[in-house]
Amino acid sequence: MKRVIVKGIGSHIPDCVLSNADLEGMVDTTNEWIVSRTGIESRRICLDTEMTSDISCEAAKKALENANIAVCDVDLIIVATVTPDMQFPATACIVQEKLGCVDIPCFDLSAACSGFIYAIDVARNFLLNNPVMKNVLVIGADRFSSIVDWEDRSTCVLFGDGAGAVVLARDTDDSGAGILDVLIGADGRCVRDLYCLGWGVADIEKIEKKDRCVRMEGRAVFREAIKRMSAVIEDILLRNELAVEDVACVIPHQANMRIITAIADRVGISEEKMFINLQRTGNTSAASIPIAIDEAVQAERVQSGDLILAVSFGGGITWGAALVRWK
Ligand code: UT7
Repeated sequence: MKRVIVKGIGSHIPDCVLSNADLEGMVDTTNEWIVSRTGIESRRICLDTEMTSDISCEAAKKALENANIAVCDVDLIIVATVTPDMQFPATACIVQEKLGCVDIPCFDLSAACSGFIYAIDVARNFLLNNPVMKNVLVIGADRFSSIVDWEDRSTCVLFGDGAGAVVLARDTDDSGAGILDVLIGADGRCVRDLYCLGWGVADIEKIEKKDRCVRMEGRAVFREAIKRMSAVIEDILLRNELAVEDVACVIPHQANMRIITAIADRVGISEEKMFINLQRTGNTSAASIPIAIDEAVQAERVQSGDLILAVSFGGGITWGAALVRWK
């Protein structure tokens, strides 16, 4: 069976910078607290006029260019997001219209910060099982600035906005490159540890604007993130008969530097192998992994033939890992 390769990649973070110093003027926090507890120094925030579909399109255009394909060559669009422009239709449909590739199927996928890894798995299965499909555009995008409670210091300092995109395609020349494996999981018992109410909720008339913001049990999420991401790294390596030493670059979900350090310690990964950009981006949810992969490639931390391991964690709780031999 042929593999699915990453034919092109691109990412986009908004221009507007929100620094820790800015946050000091908004809530009772300090740069020292944010940096020492999270590693985050600044994050990028959308303008009022920028929607999730807009940042998605910016990332998608770069991925299409990098893949050297035209918009009309895309056969399916999947957008992983929990901050869609509209409750419905899917942001993927809005992206389709903005890019100008009407009539192809489009849908959104909701797995919070793990959404991109989930979407990669779904897209890969489309490509392996449907010979008509040649190029699938997978986007991870979130505009958390619209669902953050800007008066809650325990969450508002953590998140940023952004989008990352890949074009996936079947490998035509059996190069050995491509997505070797994807592993995804969820534990719905932890729903209330990290959530944002939707529109299907009971007693909707009692829901106030503030109740529509992100809520998080930080410490519980912190513990689960370390446990689940460490376990999924070990599982995916084991079932592919690989060792940590075989991996050139690990792309962890960019939520908290202390989480990344704890995973590196637990699994035995040297910190140099971990790609980290959260100091400039904050936690961009579903965009975190594709932005980090794109930046790692641009920084030449990933070379052709290298094995990369992306690992995610998010609300649900959800987690996932993907092993990719870079083209
Ligand atoms: O993508 C989804 C995954 N999300 C995550 O992975 C986030 C996981 N959780 C975390 O990263 C951490 O739990 C946080 C960064 C959110 C919090 O760090 P922590 O070390 O777990 O702090 P804490 O919640 O235990 O709070 C310690 C203290 C508290 O004060 P008291 O009760 O000790 O007096 C908080 O009220 O820090 C206080 N605090 C703050 N102080 C200054 C909480 N947020 C802030 C803040 N500035 N922004």
